[in-house]
Amino acid sequence: METNFHRHRRLRKTAGLRAMVRETFLRKEDLIYPIFVVEGEKVKNEVPSMPGVYQLSLDLLNVEMNQVEDLDIPAVIVFGVPGEKDDCGSEAYAENGIVQRAVRQIKDNNPSLTVIADTCLCQFTDHGHCGVIENGEVLNDPSLALLTKTAVSQAKAGADIIAPSNMMDGFVAAIRKGLDEAGYIDVPIMSYAVKFSSAFYGPFRDAAHSSPQFGDRNSYQMDPPNRLEALREANSDVEEGADFLIVKPALSYLDIMREVKDSTGYPVVAYNVSGEYSMIKGAAMNGWINEREIVLEKLTSMKRAGADLIITYFAKDAARWIDEEK
Ligand code: PBG
Repeated sequence: METNFHRHRRLRKTAGLRAMVRETFLRKEDLIYPIFVVEGEKVKNEVPSMPGVYQLSLDLLNVEMNQVEDLDIPAVIVFGVPGEKDDCGSEAYAENGIVQRAVRQIKDNNPSLTVIADTCLCQFTDHGHCGVIENGEVLNDPSLALLTKTAVSQAKAGADIIAPSNMMDGFVAAIRKGLDEAGYIDVPIMSYAVKFSSAFYGPFRDAAHSSPQFGDRNSYQMDPPNRLEALREANSDVEEGADFLIVKPALSYLDIMREVKDSTGYPVVAYNVSGEYSMIKGAAMNGWINEREIVLEKLTSMKRAGADLIITYFAKDAARWIDEEK
């Protein structure tokens, strides 16, 4: 029979052939697991909007970190929920702040885990914004000094990577300078380079108690329709000295991820955010979707879009599933 079309199905005929032509792989090494640490003892609070995600007190942290290490997940990102908040977020840069203690403890107990510290003020300020407020406005430059102090205190506590998520202008330059001056020239910055003002962060704000108490974050986080602006944001972070670039959220922004990867050539990190987690969990708990297949498909799509690493609340499940697929 004569044909004038391609027989693409030839390469899909068997599992063996499909494996030979597979282009994208999700690996355990790609995963970063987010954790929420809180004050108190024996606290293991499930976040209501994020089934399977817990706020943990430090006495329960080692067990959790041992599990992460046993699953061969290489890195965690630490979010702190402090006991006290004030208008300048001073617990964010306190030597014995919750994040600083958690970082020291993890590096002590699990030295081979890479510990990433989220550097922001919103969990620590009583108004819930990511910077200093004056007359109802989030001020840029005065916030930089506090963020820099926070980053340096996290590096001092032993954080392997600093991940500033506040979206003030110039935060990478300010933090790089602060780290260098304090002697942490080798501590990389994983910047939330492109962070959209997204409804997908809703459940996180339950988990981290970080909802803004007035207004919204639209004057500092990016407007979702903007692609060229996202590339400008990514480029300025590269110029300012970022080592990794986070694109956040992930699923609705895979186009941006691909462009950031192609235009910068830097390691790109997808942040598979809380709302993306909760939507899958909710549907899975109703029996409407196959959680495992959906999660692996979605995480793989982020790799295909150019992400080198993925911050995901599914990291532990994904690591188990990746093992089982082999
Ligand atoms: C704080 C911060 C946010 C997230 C991580 N760090 C979002 C925000 O409240 O603006 C969101 C993560 C998630 O939704 O999983 N600046």
